[in-house]
Amino acid sequence: MGDAATLVTPGQMAARVATLAGELDGRYAGSSEPPLLVGVLTGSAFFLADLVRAMTIHVNLDFISISSYRGPQPRVPGGGRSGVVRIVKDIDIAVTGRDVVIIEDIVDTGLTLNYLRKTLAQRSPRSLTAVALLDKAARRIVPVPVEYRGFEIPDVFVVGYGLDWQGLYRNFPGLLAVRDVARLANNRSLLVHALAPPGVA
Ligand code: PRP
Repeated sequence: MGDAATLVTPGQMAARVATLAGELDGRYAGSSEPPLLVGVLTGSAFFLADLVRAMTIHVNLDFISISSYRGPQPRVPGGGRSGVVRIVKDIDIAVTGRDVVIIEDIVDTGLTLNYLRKTLAQRSPRSLTAVALLDKAARRIVPVPVEYRGFEIPDVFVVGYGLDWQGLYRNFPGLLAVRDVARLANNRSLLVHALAPPGVA
């Protein structure tokens, strides 16, 4: 596959997610109330769904949606964010006194997670923890704690397992590094063979 390289295979993804699930099970097993896992829409929905199905303790789930004013291609090398973040859809469950676990698919500049941590911390949770499947630490603008991370990845544009390019490719089961985003912009179907089942591509 010339236009993209597999960074994480579906099998590697499942193994890492299972390990993270085990760590979270251990962390919250003795708690009086289930942890409240807060998925950050949209990309983390895939990770969150797999993560909780690999966990064995009770959990509560909610979702939050964030908008950040930014250039047209966030996460692309050189693509930027202004740093202005706001909540588009808030969680419905009260976090006061709860063990709150923010679930992100990726931490890039850190602006989103930093805003979320500050916002949720103001609501007096019992504890606040962040789990990020991917950490693009080289792109960090704001230092922000990430207590659990799946993979640290280099500063390359990635799609799959929830991460998109213009809304596409979220449903690829592994993680692909796109070599040339400009080529993708000229041919939206460039990586579509990556979505085909084995033997069809
Ligand atoms: C991604 C990701 C984080 C954010 C991280 O969301 O899910 O929320 O970017 O970037 P940052 O560290 O630079 O703030 P995105 O805005 O791409 O939304 P999506 O999940 O709906 O695709």
